[in-house]
Amino acid sequence: MHMNFNSPFAMVIFGATGDLSQNKLIPSLFSLFTQKKLPDDFFIVGFSRRSLNEEEFRAFFKNLIHKKGWDDFAKHLIYQQGNFEDKGGYLNLIEKLKTLDDKIGACVTRFFYLATPPDNYEKILDFLKSTKLAKGCKHESPQTPKGSSDSRAKDKWTRIIIEKPFGKDLETAISLDKKLAAIFEEKQIFRVDHYLGKETLQNMVAFRFANGIFEPIWNKKYIDHVQITWAEEKGIEGRGKFFDGIGLLRDVAQNHIMQFIAAIAMEQPKSFSNEEMRDERAKVIKSIRPINGDEISKSVVRGQYRGYKDEKDVLITSETETFVAMKLFVDTPRFEGIPFYVRLGKKMPKNIAEISIVFIQTCHTLFKEYGCPEIGNVLTIRIQPDEGISLRIIAKEPGAQLKLGTVNMHYTYEESFQTQGVDAYEKILLDIFKGDQMLFNRSDELGSSWNFITKILRGWDLQARRSNFKIPIYSEKSWGVKEGFDLIEKDGRKWTVA
Ligand code: BG6
Repeated sequence: MHMNFNSPFAMVIFGATGDLSQNKLIPSLFSLFTQKKLPDDFFIVGFSRRSLNEEEFRAFFKNLIHKKGWDDFAKHLIYQQGNFEDKGGYLNLIEKLKTLDDKIGACVTRFFYLATPPDNYEKILDFLKSTKLAKGCKHESPQTPKGSSDSRAKDKWTRIIIEKPFGKDLETAISLDKKLAAIFEEKQIFRVDHYLGKETLQNMVAFRFANGIFEPIWNKKYIDHVQITWAEEKGIEGRGKFFDGIGLLRDVAQNHIMQFIAAIAMEQPKSFSNEEMRDERAKVIKSIRPINGDEISKSVVRGQYRGYKDEKDVLITSETETFVAMKLFVDTPRFEGIPFYVRLGKKMPKNIAEISIVFIQTCHTLFKEYGCPEIGNVLTIRIQPDEGISLRIIAKEPGAQLKLGTVNMHYTYEESFQTQGVDAYEKILLDIFKGDQMLFNRSDELGSSWNFITKILRGWDLQARRSNFKIPIYSEKSWGVKEGFDLIEKDGRKWTVA
């Protein structure tokens, strides 16, 4: 289902005045518009509970965005007030969409973007089905849209875009998937993990498979361990309603971190095609060794930042985690037995998302008595900020005596390309318009990821029921709870980000 670049579309955003829409969707659509990457005819149809008229809806975003070109973009914004649980809103939406088709004189492709709290997904999907909105204009008998060939008229002219978290655990993810599959075909479903749209993550595939020099050392014979640090300075920033009871394991580990692991550990796909790429990602996630029973308390650590319980819309008794550290293994021939240490947290000392591949030290073979650096070769992939890659190597320090030190060879996107690349949301929006699913989760990837995460969640539930578990607290601007350090230090290793 590929659209011409210039095909008209209507994107209905459910939850159009919410956080995601304010922070990512509308700003990204506006930016694509100013870069002239959107077709001449497009409509962004906001659907949400707030009682606003079109002018108020436009003004709502104008106040947030304040940029040149806004007024031209705003003409494409349309609003439909509606409650997610009330059929009336959907019927009005049908009428509104019809007027847009009439304006264009053809059936316009419709994208339904679920940007609401996830509790609403099933309800909205039910209504998309029962009102036949999901089937698109003229209920599956579209006229040929402007600028398209006849064969495309047979396509279904709708797509569904569904934001993470996709479910709350394995069971709810499966049930959501079943519901989606009963309404849409797989090629119409876009499950978003915006980290897949990040340049640096996409570059991992190029870096690993376009440079022949890394393949031979990218395995257990040469790699000692892998580290992933994902840290944000900010806390939950008023998102208590969404975050409390969800926690960072579901919010970030279940999706973004799984994709980091997939990028590090995947095998070379047979071809650079959507399904082959998704196959290889899915295989890695499926190979992550489950952490069960007593292993959970040994291999997974959680914490909460001081002051979290005082945040808006957070229960004063909340045990929700804002920090997680874990040690896991990917059971593939390539990575068998290599520990992956993963650490993620909010209210950390700095914003950073980084992968370190730490290679086995060989310096001591020859230079024992000269003193080898504690950590030798490390390949660091900086996902953000200061996007780039560096390789730490051991070198002789200049001077008459033999003394070893380390130096970094590095490149940053900014220095090398004078850009940090395409914004992740802009990239995924463009791919949705094109109908390209490579950077979207397939249902089996999500299933495997939930399978791994759900075991930890169940273990935590059990722990809370059995004992008087109180989540450890860490101070703002620290690297989380002490147990997060113990996890790696008891193996004689250290976090590379400090
Ligand atoms: C979202 C999480 O998926 O990613 C947020 O829900 C997090 O908790 C955000 O802050 C980070 O995204 P980015 O692109 O700013 O790194």
